[in-house]
Amino acid sequence: MKLNYGIIGSGMMGCEHIRNLRKIPDVDIVAIADPDENSRKRAKHICGDSFQPIFYEDHRALLSKNSIDVVVVSTPNFTHIEVMRDIFKTDKHVLLEKPMCTNLADGIEVFERSKAHSGLVWVGLEYRFMPPIQAIISHTGEVGEIKMLSIREHRFPFLKKVGDWNRFNEKTGGTLVEKCCHFFDLMNLMIKSNPVKVYASGSQSVNHLDEAYGGKPPDILDNSFVIVDYEMGQRAMLDLCMFAEGGRHEQEIVLTGDKGKLETYIPGKELFISSRQNNSFETLEIKKDSRVREEGLHHGASYIEHLELIDCLKQRRPAKVDCKDGLDSMILGLAAQESIKTGDPIYLNEFLRN
Ligand SMILES: NC(=O)c1ccc[n+]([C@@H]2O[C@H](COP(=O)([O-])OP(=O)(O)OC[C@H]3O[C@@H](n4cnc5c(N)ncnc54)[C@H](O)[C@@H]3O)[C@@H](O)[C@H]2O)c1
Repeated sequence: MKLNYGIIGSGMMGCEHIRNLRKIPDVDIVAIADPDENSRKRAKHICGDSFQPIFYEDHRALLSKNSIDVVVVSTPNFTHIEVMRDIFKTDKHVLLEKPMCTNLADGIEVFERSKAHSGLVWVGLEYRFMPPIQAIISHTGEVGEIKMLSIREHRFPFLKKVGDWNRFNEKTGGTLVEKCCHFFDLMNLMIKSNPVKVYASGSQSVNHLDEAYGGKPPDILDNSFVIVDYEMGQRAMLDLCMFAEGGRHEQEIVLTGDKGKLETYIPGKELFISSRQNNSFETLEIKKDSRVREEGLHHGASYIEHLELIDCLKQRRPAKVDCKDGLDSMILGLAAQESIKTGDPIYLNEFLRN
């Protein structure tokens, strides 16, 4: 089965998708839409001889092409809702980049409309497919009942983006939605229970303090601690610092059960499995996924994401990462942003009622 792709938004992530799709057999990129000339030029260069897409400035012109089977939406977060409203008028399959949207009303709209859409709607939470995460998931049964999950991300500041959209809460949903929806998705995936309460503290302490766009200073936070309580008594924590270049690991993940714990890091080649009973740990080598032909910016996870999506299409199965996952990960990010704003814990049943 040959699949024709259209790329909507060919900035950094759109180009990452093009690089990945180039290495997948039976895939053609037939159209690319981006209003920015530089982004279109860069995409044309990356397509090289592999693809000869038609370029558009307006995504609606791309969507009118009947020959396109799958669209990838890699536009700024605040534009996702309008682009998705146009996609829902078609029957195309879609890979929508994370975060699904920037606010709750838009997230719920995409989730509800995705249920009636005839195409598959997949949300780009590809951290799930990173080998260290897959290793933790496949060994979860060895540490007893899961009680705690700790995720630390210590990394570099936000990069420059086309139109500087990632400097503002309004355009991103806030750092804890934009960046950290990946980690909230992992919490929901590993803890396998419903979150009930979120408390967070955070601020913009170091980054972008001397910048201004249209006279407005950025309001995007660069560090935070977030705690999420789950209904069966488990708890998860995110420790985020975005002025921490040069550290040993960008992400560290520890999943603890009542019999032992699993520890790993990204990028990483080892899983540490410790047992309380033996009072010791063993080290497991994490094998690369032999299917990966492009490491890209996400350690092969975007490549696997595309393979898995294509597999769902071929097998006529629902999306493995769907709009419910997209919405649930957004909700935790939005609740954490609200907790920082108000200084109060956020009870999710009340947050979702308001
Ligand atoms: N899954 C991941 O790990 C990951 C990583 C990085 C970015 N992202 C997500 O990908 C999306 C894009 O981020 P980026 O880093 O590529 O940003 P970017 O600024 O580099 O690129 C965005 C591009 O979209 C274009 N654009 C804006 N409105 C458009 C429209 N209506 N139609 C077509 N193109 C449009 C811009 O001109 C720009 O070229 C964001 O939602 C971001 O959160 C996901």
